[in-house]
Amino acid sequence: MAVLIDGKVISTKIKEELKQEVTEMKAQGITPCLAVILVGDDSASAIYVRNKKRACEYVGIESRSYELPEDTTQEELEKLVTSLNEDENVDGILVQLPLPGQIDEEKITTMISPKKDVDGFLADSIGALCLGTEGFRSCTPAGVIELIRRSGYSIEGKECVVVGRSNHVGKPMALLLLQENGTVTIAHSRTKNLGEITRRADILVAAVGKAKIIKACDVKEGAIVIDVGMNRDENGKLCGDVDFEQVKEKAEAITPVPGGVGPMTIAMLMNNCVEAARKKRR
Ligand code: GUN
Repeated sequence: MAVLIDGKVISTKIKEELKQEVTEMKAQGITPCLAVILVGDDSASAIYVRNKKRACEYVGIESRSYELPEDTTQEELEKLVTSLNEDENVDGILVQLPLPGQIDEEKITTMISPKKDVDGFLADSIGALCLGTEGFRSCTPAGVIELIRRSGYSIEGKECVVVGRSNHVGKPMALLLLQENGTVTIAHSRTKNLGEITRRADILVAAVGKAKIIKACDVKEGAIVIDVGMNRDENGKLCGDVDFEQVKEKAEAITPVPGGVGPMTIAMLMNNCVEAARKKRR
């Protein structure tokens, strides 16, 4: 039976460390500040945003909340982002995605100043990750690395397989594993013989967005299995991309859903906010 990698416990530890750092920053007159923009009434987004604001409160980061109606115009949203870019007291800007249909999401997200891109979504941030230079790391992939590291596993020299090639998770995930000296393969919807590839993995990261598609037969005995998926199963219950009940019998270690990668994304967002505030004052 696999070791359970507990994202709640590990993310709480990270937030504790950040809280300590923020206390020290505040003693020097610096309070990190995150602006959170939520447009419309998507219920999942509202929950994510609430959790992010709670995490800010826990760590001691000031959070400024902008909750705008569903029919907000492109111009109104652009004006808000511009004003937050210019506001020296704001260290990080997070525009919760998805945005309503009338909004050009690409235009809005690329407007955010790279200095305030705490999601790590901008080309500047992904480019810095690619080059191994300083920049904000995408929160979910950075959270996966921390989960592996803090559970005592090393990445160096390991066969790492990332299933999924999204801009927000799969691609930056592969780059971060590479930076940690893993031997990295990216598999995706057009990959032939997917099982053959996933069975090679010492570290398998599933970021596909399909409920329980990774079965025991897709996993090598003793693998570390990280599940980024957040889906509903046939009974409407929250589940990952990995068939947890099957795979836990075969893996060395596995993350649950919920309670695995999810809380780590928020912890890494907090980390990026603190880093933004630290950098600004340098
Ligand atoms: N929507 C779902 N996850 C995220 C995230 O990590 N950041 C933003 N901005 N929107 C999201």
